[in-house]
Amino acid sequence: MPGDGIGPEVAQEARQVLELLVPDVEVEERLLGAAAIRATGGPLPEETLNACLRATAVLKGPIGDPEFDAADVRPEQGLLALRSALDTYANLRPASLGEVDMLIVRELVGGLYFGARGTRDDGTVYDTCEYHPRQVERIVRRGFALARSRRSRLTSVDKANVLETSRLWRRIVDETAPRYPDVHVEHVLVDNAAMQLAVDPGQFDVIVTENMFGDILSDLAAAVTGGLGVAPSASLSDGGAGLFEPVHGSAPDLAGRNAANPTAMLRSTALLLEHGLGLRAEADALRGAIDVALATTKTPDLGGTATTAELGAAVREQLAVDAPAAVSYGG
Ligand code: IPM
Ligand code: MG
Repeated sequence: MPGDGIGPEVAQEARQVLELLVPDVEVEERLLGAAAIRATGGPLPEETLNACLRATAVLKGPIGDPEFDAADVRPEQGLLALRSALDTYANLRPASLGEVDMLIVRELVGGLYFGARGTRDDGTVYDTCEYHPRQVERIVRRGFALARSRRSRLTSVDKANVLETSRLWRRIVDETAPRYPDVHVEHVLVDNAAMQLAVDPGQFDVIVTENMFGDILSDLAAAVTGGLGVAPSASLSDGGAGLFEPVHGSAPDLAGRNAANPTAMLRSTALLLEHGLGLRAEADALRGAIDVALATTKTPDLGGTATTAELGAAVREQLAVDAPAAVSYGG
């Protein structure tokens, strides 16, 4: 799903890279978000949902359009419904630069995004944050397992000094910890976590947190490691198709100018190759090619003048030069 705003421009680069690395890949393109509302009246057409449910992996560009900010039917509702339908509860948001190398593991299908909401008779508007223990257990287990596969440090972020759901979260982290005795666990309150991320991001390995905190902290983590233009994500379920998408939004002001940075979308494609298709060598080759291309070919957000298409082409050239073996594995 190319998505909205800059989506189609960055998605086109991703598709070309994917087809280069995996020549026999079958790609189906579908509408989601504002593009889908315009074409069908709804943000997640049945055709799109069914294609995603059938797919081995799902790649999506950013969605959202200010045109629908005040509407009852909004692009973001389609994305939330899709995440929920695929049950992609584990959202992996890696952020690295130099000494900084962290992975935010964000719960993606619960909490404030999915709780009861509405308007009371007196005009009060409410959203509620709800978590069932099972929803917390499965994401916390993922966090521990991922920490174990990295540097074995897990930071659990909550607001347990105020929220019931956070006290549940903290209790489950503490109950899970003995099963991962090799993982060092630390609890950090979300406000403090934001400050620590800004002043000393290098201290973190894996951060596990609930949906809304993870949304906010992952933008901050992206900002301290090169910006939103380079931040990818993988959303995984237990056994179903994963959903791979950049952390950034649709940047309507930048759309149609061939100026958006396709890196986040390309890195999301690398995560799709690794987690969605099980093609680790191709994923590594793509990540390496992106790094090399970025050293000389920078889009405006990184202080350069390269266009979206130029950076995409530089990545493909590098793939052909640098990893012809990886390029041919796909066939
Ligand atoms: C993200 C985005 C989405 C979210 C929006 C578009 C609904 O900000 O993936 O971080 O809040 O999850
Ligand atoms: Mg966000």
